[in-house]
Formats: sequence, C-alpha cells, structure tokens
Amino acid sequence: MSTIIVETPVTAGLGALFTTHGLSKKTVVLFDENTRKLYGEELLETLGKEGFQWKELVVPAREASKSFNAAYRLYGSMIGADVDRSWNLLAVGGGVVGDLGGFIAASYYRGIPVIQLPTTLLAMTDSSIGGKVAINHPLGKNLIGFFHLPELVLIDPSYLETLPQREIYSGMAEVIKYGFIADEAFLSFLDLHFKDITNLQEPWLTEAVKKSACIKEDVITKDFRETNGIRATLNFGHTFAHGLEKLAEYKYLRHGEAVTIGMACALVLSHNLGYLDNVSLQRGLSILKRFRFPTGVLKRRFLDIESEVLLENMFSDKKKLDKKLRFVLLKRLGEAFQLEENVEDRAVLKAINEARIFFSGQSEHSR
Ligand SMILES: NC(=O)c1ccc[n+]([C@@H]2O[C@H](COP(=O)([O-])OP(=O)(O)OC[C@H]3O[C@@H](n4cnc5c(N)ncnc54)[C@H](O)[C@@H]3O)[C@@H](O)[C@H]2O)c1
Ligand SMILES: [Zn+2]
Repeated sequence: MSTIIVETPVTAGLGALFTTHGLSKKTVVLFDENTRKLYGEELLETLGKEGFQWKELVVPAREASKSFNAAYRLYGSMIGADVDRSWNLLAVGGGVVGDLGGFIAASYYRGIPVIQLPTTLLAMTDSSIGGKVAINHPLGKNLIGFFHLPELVLIDPSYLETLPQREIYSGMAEVIKYGFIADEAFLSFLDLHFKDITNLQEPWLTEAVKKSACIKEDVITKDFRETNGIRATLNFGHTFAHGLEKLAEYKYLRHGEAVTIGMACALVLSHNLGYLDNVSLQRGLSILKRFRFPTGVLKRRFLDIESEVLLENMFSDKKKLDKKLRFVLLKRLGEAFQLEENVEDRAVLKAINEARIFFSGQSEHSR
C-alpha cells in the first residue's frame, strides 16, 4: 500500500528516498501556520541541501482550512508557480494539513503523488495512513474527497515534543482504539505504559506509534474502500463521537476527546447487547479513565448534554445507512465487528446514560 517509515530524523536522505520511490524532487510543501513556524526553516533547508525544487504553501491552523475555498486558492498558487504533473506534494502537519494536502494532490492535474509528514500523534497513527482524504462541506464534515494513498508516510515521533498535551491525549484515543478493535496484547501494553507514552518517553512512544500504524495499514490492506466491514471497525466509538463533535461545532472538543467518550458508550453498548462480558467492560472503562480533559470540557460537551439531543445529532453522521445508525461493537477486548442489525434508540440512550455516570466521577480531574 504505502511505504511507512518511522525514524528520527525521518528527513535524512530525503532526496535518495524520493528517487528510490520514483518521486521527482519537485515538491509542493504544504504547512499550517504552526508547523511552518516550528519546522519550516529546517525542513526547507534540508530540501535545499538534498537538491529539491519546492513551492511552499501555508494555511491557517484550523479545521476551516479543510474547505473548497482554501483548496481553490492553493490550486491558483500552484498553477501560478508552474506546478505540473511531474511534481508531488508533501503535507507537513496534523490531520487538517494531511487531509487538505491529500485532497489537493488527488485532484490537481488529475492526481499527483502525495507524501505525508504527520506532526500530531493523531496524524502519525491515523489520518496520514490509509488514503482517505477530504475537505468539509457546510452540510457535513469530510463529505468531499478521494481515496488517494500516500506514496510515503514519513513519521518522526520527535516532532511531538512541541505538541500541546491536549493534542497528545486526542491522538492517544485513536491509539487505544487500535488495542480495543484489533490487539489485546497491545491494549495491555498501552494500559501499562499510558503515562510513558503520553509523556513521550522512548522506546514506548515509538513502539505505540509503529504498532498503531501497522494495525491501520493492515486493516486498509484488507478493505481499502470500506466495502466489507473491516475498515468500518476503525469507527469504533465514532458514531457517538460524531454526534458530540457536531454539538461542539467541531471546535470545542478535539476529535480524540469525542472518541474517548464515544468508546466508553460503545463499550457499554457492547456489554448491554450481550457481546462483551462484564470483566472486559470494566477493564476497558478503567483504561479510558486515564484520559484527561481540560477543565469544564467534559461537563459542557458531554455530561450536560441530554442523551436524546446527542442521539439526534448522531443521526446526521454521514455513516448512517437508510437512517439507521451503524455501530461498531466489541466481542472481546481486541476484536471488533460492525453490527448489521438496527439498535433500538432505547438501548443507545441507556448506553449514553451509563457512560455519563462513568465519566461524572472523572469530571473534577483536569490538566
Ligand atoms: N483521513 C483520515 O483518515 C482521518 C482520520 C482521522 C482524522 N482525520 C482528520 O484529521 C483532522 C484532525 O487532525 P489533528 O487532530 O491532527 O488536528 P490538526 O491538524 O488541527 O492539528 C492540531 C493542532 O496542532 C498543531 N500542530 C501540529 N503539529 C504540531 C507540532 N508538532 N507541534 C505543535 N503544534 C502542532 C496544528 O497546527 C493544530 O493547531 C480532522 O480534520 C479529521 O477530520 C482524518
Ligand atoms: Zn477518528
């Protein structure tokens, strides 16, 4: 699928690496304002030394950059700089830059190669891998896009040293998700080393990043276009999470925070519907207890929200089919499946209520 390299510094020998992979040394480099400021000079200097010709593009560091307007403006800059099919695009940033960069690469001149250089934990372990690239539409998130696999995913965990704690936790939610859906031994490892990883301690951080990337790539290999239910298991916790994110206007809750809450709901639902035993449920919840939310966020963005209101907002999730909500559940810790049958509203509401009780004991914690 894609070549994934995990290394520090990952840009050493970049010219030779591009050549080996049949990529030209003509590269559009897309940053957001933060990654430009933090890593731009050093990276562009490396490109210079490695004999690259480049065109630099920068977008504001916010979800709103994943828009058609932003893409349209960037196409213009690229055309103006005589960028043609012989070029490629290097996306340097979190999921916003990765998704936008991938979208532009997939569409520009009917498609140029994209290389992902993820700089958030979420992007290193999730969004940069698997080729789903999209922009948002006013009527919904990630609705306009492509499957466009990156030629290379260049992961350097040392970039995380500048990432705010809140973003680390957000990415960690997706990491834990891989343990839940695919690998119980990995889940135990994450349970044991949760603090080490969120404090960016090696070798645990790199091990967690590598294993996550590996699980995601494995899932993608089995179901690239999400047609046989395997890729759908990556949406564990996400049916609930999308409702929460929508209610938070995609602004006041990080994606991983919503996924953390969503996974608790999904664990409870898996248990209540008779798929997951109580010991596994309790163990799963105890792992989620390690997550920290900024003061007030859990209260305002989940505990204070009526279950019915959350349910209503889950329905506008694009993953719904014939107005039925689709849920990914666990059979055991380390094995997920997408439930085909409809789940009664009553059962969904009960799961949300029980997850709320679980999290209310945690609301006074903050970081
Ligand atoms: N394509 C996929 O498969 C997929 C999967 C999951 C999420 N996504 C998308 O990813 C996006 C979220 O990605 P994200 O959580 O990485 O958010 P993000 O890209 O907004 O990055 C979070 C913040 O961290 C900053 N930042 C990035 N790297 C940094 C660094 N090394 N040091 C300091 N600050 C840094 C960014 O500028 C931004 O302010 C959403 O748009 C979501 O839809 C896509
Ligand atoms: Zn996610």
